Amino acid sequence: MPSTIRDVANAAGVSVGTVSNVLNRPHLVAESTRHKVDKAIHSLGFVRSGAARDLRAGDSRVIGLVVLNLRNPFFTEMAQGVEDRLLDAGLSLLLSTSNADAKREERSLKQLIERQVAGLLVVPSQPSSFERILEVRDRGIPVVLVDSVSPDPTISAVSVDDERGARLAVGHLLEQGHRRIVFFNGPLSVKQCRDRESGARAAVVDFGYDPDEILRVVHLAGLESVDGMTAIEAILDEGGEPPTAVFAMNDVVAMGVMRGLRRRSLRIPEDMAVIGFDDISLASELMTPLSSVSQPKYDIGWSAADLLVGTSKRARQIEFSPELKIRDSSAFRR
Ligand code: RIB
Repeated sequence: MPSTIRDVANAAGVSVGTVSNVLNRPHLVAESTRHKVDKAIHSLGFVRSGAARDLRAGDSRVIGLVVLNLRNPFFTEMAQGVEDRLLDAGLSLLLSTSNADAKREERSLKQLIERQVAGLLVVPSQPSSFERILEVRDRGIPVVLVDSVSPDPTISAVSVDDERGARLAVGHLLEQGHRRIVFFNGPLSVKQCRDRESGARAAVVDFGYDPDEILRVVHLAGLESVDGMTAIEAILDEGGEPPTAVFAMNDVVAMGVMRGLRRRSLRIPEDMAVIGFDDISLASELMTPLSSVSQPKYDIGWSAADLLVGTSKRARQIEFSPELKIRDSSAFRR
């Protein structure tokens, strides 16, 4: 089995993105790292695969990517990994958004197909997306799912272990002494949200408590910053004993929560701890750096593109592990 770029990354102890940079933009990589990667390339006998996998017949050198939106940095950071892998294979990227709307997703897919893309990467916006995606695949257009698990083993998919990520986040809040936690989640029609909710509840059970007593789940209509801000303001307006910690289903919502708390002159984390999910690059740069569950956005995108254009001939389901990044926004023991 020929060595892959992932084998090289593992052997050199770097990310696949770093190996891609050594191959394509060596000036971006420190000499010591370049040396480690070159050593791994030679010891493994790695040969870069310029040949793209059997993509859609025709001479198109364009791959389509449909994400939910470009407002959430999770998607743009993930798209960077996609584009870097496509460049390695001499392909370019055509980006489109579904805005989590079935009609718009259908239109985006249709327009990309009409543009004769050689393959498609899709972040499914809802359960009905899979039907459309199977139709596309059955028209001979290779498809890989991103930020999603696949309901069909013949379609590759790349995601993170959402359940484990949420378990880490709520487990951390419980360890900090929080016993009134609110979880701002998205709609349960989205699998990531279902998995994050079961992980959050499991963390409470792990601690020996009843989730219904410790964890209050609020399902938000939207996952924008303003949704987080209005949600926390509504909770504070209820009066009574407020929660002491918020777990938000992504960093964009968490930043809206922080804005809502600041508008009420509440201190973070002393009056209210906050933790998000994704670990977008902004999270660590905030005035109160945001704790978050990190998912490898770049590698998720890179790996999804590699499954589409790489040399492996079989569909694969890749699930990355999340990592807890504890920062000031939750670093206060009660
Ligand atoms: O689309 C909302 C969220 O789902 C993103 O922030 C990311 O966490 C994805 O998994």
